Amino acid sequence: MARTPVLKTAAALLSQLKLAQGKWISGAELSRQLQVSRTAVWKHICAMKTEGYRIDSSARKGYLLREIPDLLRPQELRPGLKTRSIGQQEIRYCDQTDSTNLRAKAMAAAGAPEGTLIIAEEQTAGRGRRGRNWFSPPGAGIYMSLIIRPAILPQEAPSFALLAAVAVAAAVREVTLLDPRIKWPNDILINGRKLGGILTEVSMEMDKVEYLIVGLGLNVNLAREAFPPDLRETGTSIRAELGRSLPRLPLVRSILERFEGTYEEYQRHGFAPIRKRWQAFTDMIGRTVAVDTLERRLTGEVMDFDEEGYLVVREHNGGRVRIFSGDVSFI
Ligand code: BTN
Repeated sequence: MARTPVLKTAAALLSQLKLAQGKWISGAELSRQLQVSRTAVWKHICAMKTEGYRIDSSARKGYLLREIPDLLRPQELRPGLKTRSIGQQEIRYCDQTDSTNLRAKAMAAAGAPEGTLIIAEEQTAGRGRRGRNWFSPPGAGIYMSLIIRPAILPQEAPSFALLAAVAVAAAVREVTLLDPRIKWPNDILINGRKLGGILTEVSMEMDKVEYLIVGLGLNVNLAREAFPPDLRETGTSIRAELGRSLPRLPLVRSILERFEGTYEEYQRHGFAPIRKRWQAFTDMIGRTVAVDTLERRLTGEVMDFDEEGYLVVREHNGGRVRIFSGDVSFI
């Protein structure tokens, strides 16, 4: 019970410091605005400093906010987030967790509503598609999972992976001005190297979807040398592509906003418009690929992505195959 006012004071203090926009604000003024003692203000300032906020203090002038740490904390993420539902429910923030998808599944199973977001600075057991790991070093990427409860049939669930890829690619393009491409089903590439990936996991209930977890991993501020040797050639980050670091918060907000917009479009008009946007983000059509499916490896030319999000490949023997799930490499 006693926690709420303390949290409220901390949030109000942060917003007052931000409102001062690089100017000093006195302890007396803060204490008046927040209706707490000057000692309480000072204690909150000390706590904020240990969290990484750079705040100058002066007995005469008061406090000056110099720098906000590039952390994805809810109190930093929420202001300015222009969504109705996505990210407007609980935001579970973790300095470190095993996997945000695992956390999300546990929360969804316990009844967490649509729009719940789990976000971590670091994952110790980040999971990728097809049983792989997702390299998730602290503070360098975006590792997050969303809980969605769409009223869809189980066979429609795969289109959510494509929907999410469109939203992420659009956000990356908006914020970085880079030219992301999507490799089916949902790898985000820049200049042919993998920038991010999406892992959707679904829970069914009889013949309908109970919930969907949309997990996103995006390499943001990783230096090229920081990639493990096996990913150095095939992986990339925004920092490696732009030649500078990028604050992650605006990118997370844009991803959430784009996701919500694309999701609403899907609810209103179905998969057709998403498919069109997806196609505009890919240059796979006409290329020769190898696809590893659960059953076999096939090679051929990419012909299309159909209305259900399947990859359509013409094999070298002329046969046409629709692929539901697989790993694509360019030949
Ligand atoms: C891929 O293999 O391309 C998908 C990678 C998905 C990684 C993200 S990181 C956040 C979320 N939590 C996980 O454990 N995995 C996803």
